[in-house]
Amino acid sequence: MNERWTRKDLLGLRELSIDEINFILETADAFKQVGAREIKKVPALRGKTLVNFFVEPSTRTRTSFELAAFRLSADVINITASGSSLTKGETLKDTAKNLEALHADILVLRHSSAGAPQFLAERLKSSVINAGDGAHEHPTQGLLDAYTIREKRGKIDNLHVVIIGDILFSRVARSNIFCLTKLGARVTLVGPSTLVPRDFEKLGVTVSHKIDNVLPDADVVNLLRIQHERQRKEYFPGTGEYTRLFGLTKARAKMLKPDCLVMHPGPINRGVEIDSEVADGSRSVILDQVTNGLAVRMAVLYLCGGIAT
Ligand code: CP
Repeated sequence: MNERWTRKDLLGLRELSIDEINFILETADAFKQVGAREIKKVPALRGKTLVNFFVEPSTRTRTSFELAAFRLSADVINITASGSSLTKGETLKDTAKNLEALHADILVLRHSSAGAPQFLAERLKSSVINAGDGAHEHPTQGLLDAYTIREKRGKIDNLHVVIIGDILFSRVARSNIFCLTKLGARVTLVGPSTLVPRDFEKLGVTVSHKIDNVLPDADVVNLLRIQHERQRKEYFPGTGEYTRLFGLTKARAKMLKPDCLVMHPGPINRGVEIDSEVADGSRSVILDQVTNGLAVRMAVLYLCGGIAT
């Protein structure tokens, strides 16, 4: 066992130490180099079985975990809510216990309920990886965002990272806040007061409701989409109004420093939180985030999968 990593599960970044986060990022560096080789596969998880259990839709995270598992030589099974016995009334715990009875070593879970991965992690011997739970956390997204910033800027410490949008309902925002503040970044959250309440300042970040005051000083801007699926009512007048007040339009992008990184976890609502040309522009590292997600998820599967019994 490696003394820098002793966890069978990755549930969130709030509970990780700075050293644990750095160890995942360093391990991801090694796997990124593997991805540049002609033969991109390593035998690290040969003989292990990974179940990708996605109860909510996903493009990037599900594909990335599946490819990461293939690259580590694990066997992979994909299950979706509609294709599982959850639709017949089976509980999440019973489904997971049955998967464990089939000797699943690693369960990657996306679920609309915050805490679902923790619930299973406490009841299973298998490794449980949180692939996004409700508005709680999306730890591998937070890690791949940190990895991308460190790769592009050479450091995270003392950078000013501005996260714009629907913070209240965003698991990506929470994982970014926990990760980036631990690694020494200065984080500012921007959006309407309904979606970015002052309460977030308790997490060691600054809250602003005036995007134009914040953009010129940003080293990184991370745009989040409006999480319509998690909102019980509208928290702003409409998408047109949102774009006018908080969208990264072409005019606003001119306020950014030349080396400011433009990030987005996806899926993008082009023309709402970000202008289409800005999303595809020279400052954008949105597709680099996706590429780096593979190395980060290989690192997470390798580290947690090596602990699970
Ligand atoms: N960023 C992210 O979680 O994307 P998906 O919902 O497509 O997985």
